[in-house]
Amino acid sequence: MSTAIGELATANETAPDVAEDRAEILAGLRAEQKRLLPKYFYDQRGSELFDRICELPEYYPTRTELKIMDAHLAEIAKLVGPQAAVIEFGAGSNVKVRQLLDGLEEPAAYVPVEISADYLLQQAQDLARDYPHVHIQPVFADFTQPFELPRHPVEPRRNLVFFPGSTIGNFTRPQAADLLEVMREEAKPGGALLIGVDLRKDPEILRAAYNDSQGVTAEFNLNVLHRLNRELEADFDVAKFRHEAVWDEAEGRIEMRLISLEDQTVTVAGRSIPFRRGEHIVTEYSHKYSLEEFQALARGAGFTPQKAWTDEDRMFSVHFMSVE
Ligand code: AVJ
Repeated sequence: MSTAIGELATANETAPDVAEDRAEILAGLRAEQKRLLPKYFYDQRGSELFDRICELPEYYPTRTELKIMDAHLAEIAKLVGPQAAVIEFGAGSNVKVRQLLDGLEEPAAYVPVEISADYLLQQAQDLARDYPHVHIQPVFADFTQPFELPRHPVEPRRNLVFFPGSTIGNFTRPQAADLLEVMREEAKPGGALLIGVDLRKDPEILRAAYNDSQGVTAEFNLNVLHRLNRELEADFDVAKFRHEAVWDEAEGRIEMRLISLEDQTVTVAGRSIPFRRGEHIVTEYSHKYSLEEFQALARGAGFTPQKAWTDEDRMFSVHFMSVE
């Protein structure tokens, strides 16, 4: 059973864009501590820049996760079993899901759940071509809220929620607990979760990973201002901001910031946003966990941890958890 491209393109509502999130963005920029959500990074350019980040020598998570998955794929496939429906929360690059689909026994379906339509449709079409026996059905949705799963021509034996890349790190610990509950609900009783989680480690390694020497992460961070200029009639002078990523030991997270280089006033969607020199917008959190801390968080959301793998330097972890 293959999926026609026309079917992919029409089966869903259109993706939300920045203009629809105007109120949320303005509220974030007018708050005492200015903030923007990391989901706004990923326009076409932002997605390309993120792919470049993944190739950087300092940015270890992507390649380490792929290595862990590769080393334990046979065991993972055994734990998952045949004819699973893979539900990916936030499908970005499809390298990881290809690796998983190649390793699993007769995967029945693949459901990427993603807010950005641009990237998702092309990727889904490529996958549909290369995996004719997997029912591929993208869902355009904000995966932090419960969403309805599509039906499949062949009833899958179980749902496997797939959340690679340590995207869970974007959420504060209480938010991550809520999101794990959504995942547990979407996995359904008898289902499972396969999730990549970045580990706590030497802060110097973390700081280097988010302040790379080539400045790609800086460009990625600053790109969100270009996006607001384009899509929300903003007039940020991007040269008057600089990127910085700081490690917060107490919170166990990297915090990405855009720092105003001078006193200035920016207009966003008709509103004046004043900046003092040195004031910053928080654009992203990237939380880091110990194995035990993450397992406890997942248990609280109703998962039963079955197995966790790490690389030999204990930089990154992949967890398999089930739903009773
Ligand atoms: C995609 C959220 C996992 O937190 O490491 C990389 C995004 N930001 N460099 C991360 C990111 C800056 C990344 N996640």
